[in-house]
Amino acid sequence: MAKLLPVDDFDLIIFGGTGDLAMRKLLPALYHRHRDKQFTAVSRIVAVGRSELDRDAYLLEVEESLRANLADGEFDVAHWKSFSKRIMYLRIDVSSPKNWQTLSTVLDGAEERIRVAYLATAPSLFGPIAKGLKTNKLITGNSRIVLEKPLGRDLASASEINDQVGKCFAENQIYRIDHYLGKETVQNLLALRFANSLFEPLWKRGVVDHVQITVAEDLGVGGRIDFYDRVGALRDMVQNHILQLVCLTAMEAPSSLHHDAVRDEKIKVLRALRPIDVDSVRSNTVRGQYAAGAIKKETVPGYEEELGGKESSTETFVALKLEIDNWRWSNVPFYLRTGKRLKEKHSEIVVQFQDVPHSIFPEQAFDVQPNRLTIRLQPDEGVKLSLMAKEPGPGGFNLRPVSLDLSFEETFGLSYPDAYERLLMEVLRGNPALFMRRDEVDAAWSWVDSIIAGWEESRQKVETYVAGSWGPNASSMLLDRDGRAWQPDS
Ligand code: BG6
Repeated sequence: MAKLLPVDDFDLIIFGGTGDLAMRKLLPALYHRHRDKQFTAVSRIVAVGRSELDRDAYLLEVEESLRANLADGEFDVAHWKSFSKRIMYLRIDVSSPKNWQTLSTVLDGAEERIRVAYLATAPSLFGPIAKGLKTNKLITGNSRIVLEKPLGRDLASASEINDQVGKCFAENQIYRIDHYLGKETVQNLLALRFANSLFEPLWKRGVVDHVQITVAEDLGVGGRIDFYDRVGALRDMVQNHILQLVCLTAMEAPSSLHHDAVRDEKIKVLRALRPIDVDSVRSNTVRGQYAAGAIKKETVPGYEEELGGKESSTETFVALKLEIDNWRWSNVPFYLRTGKRLKEKHSEIVVQFQDVPHSIFPEQAFDVQPNRLTIRLQPDEGVKLSLMAKEPGPGGFNLRPVSLDLSFEETFGLSYPDAYERLLMEVLRGNPALFMRRDEVDAAWSWVDSIIAGWEESRQKVETYVAGSWGPNASSMLLDRDGRAWQPDS
């Protein structure tokens, strides 16, 4: 493993310090980095919340959450003792000006350190918190602000938040999180494409037939149902994670890994997405919602049942056919799908190459199947290249599909840090490459807004699918119509 370098002295202020994200993701991630000695002795974690808790009571909650969320055997009393010394808890109602004094007092004299404000709160508080930090003179030259998703619910609300935060922080101080960009395999996509000369000449129209991106989850919406019901799969997953995967798959080679070089290439892809509007929405999109079914042999309720019997037209599944209007991808469709309560947790990008132009093999030799490059994001991260090979033996020329299969875990023999660990470290190091720039967020919303307007205007209905399936039939039809099929075949 590469040597882990420590980061400079910092104060990390987590707004929403008692919330689910802080407890489940951020604090476990920080515990790991502390354990691996990447933090200097004086670096602090300042959790801010509205709950009436003293430090001891807060630490008790963190300890419980670490015990529950760390992998078996990872909680270590000695590490916890030293880690907990870094943690403070401040009860602050950000809407009350006098409350900010407590934070000012804590940060007084620490102006030289890296100062990160991590906003793990409702987006409606992003503007007020940024303003509170500015008014109370808590923004230093070394400050950064991290914004969690969702960043608004459409272009207008996202712009409002970005404007409010932009009045207090410069763009290069704003880190908009998309945790998919912190996933190891997502970054490996850059290595696969740009550290190998093999694929790039083939990565284009005329060679690639189409691309599929699947992000399937077997879980339902659980405790977030009230929030989710106002959002739906398109806003929750496509506007951010899936469009980022499209960008990394489709973009031109950046001139370097410099954050703006990469983001300049991604934005070109987003701007080249063919708009889907009221005229094309029915033929290019499918909306679905799960009904009761079974996952891994366990029966699970339907979405409306989970909502307490309320009727809802929120989509928990979406499939799309997307076209990128540029030279490289002209007439190469990208099919995207994501959903809750699907058959299994399974995310991958499939680049399917064209058929051979003419088969020289006898018919009984087996259909020559097109090559496919599959990049598995989760579970079991890896890359698989599907090829045709001759079956050994003297009995004629029999072909069989085989694969070159690389499992990252088997090859590198280690498990990877959670995406949040990497992203938190990148914020502390001051590298925004894995975060979204404002123009990316705007371009993604503008494309998604047009689909939502199309759905509303055309009253496109939400198709039902049985929990534990691969989504509604219409999703298979979306590809079937073009003579294609999802992988794995549903
Ligand atoms: C979040 C979505 O951004 O990503 C959730 O809000 C979703 O609805 C989650 O479950 C999926 O993340 P991962 O890392 O489990 O694929």
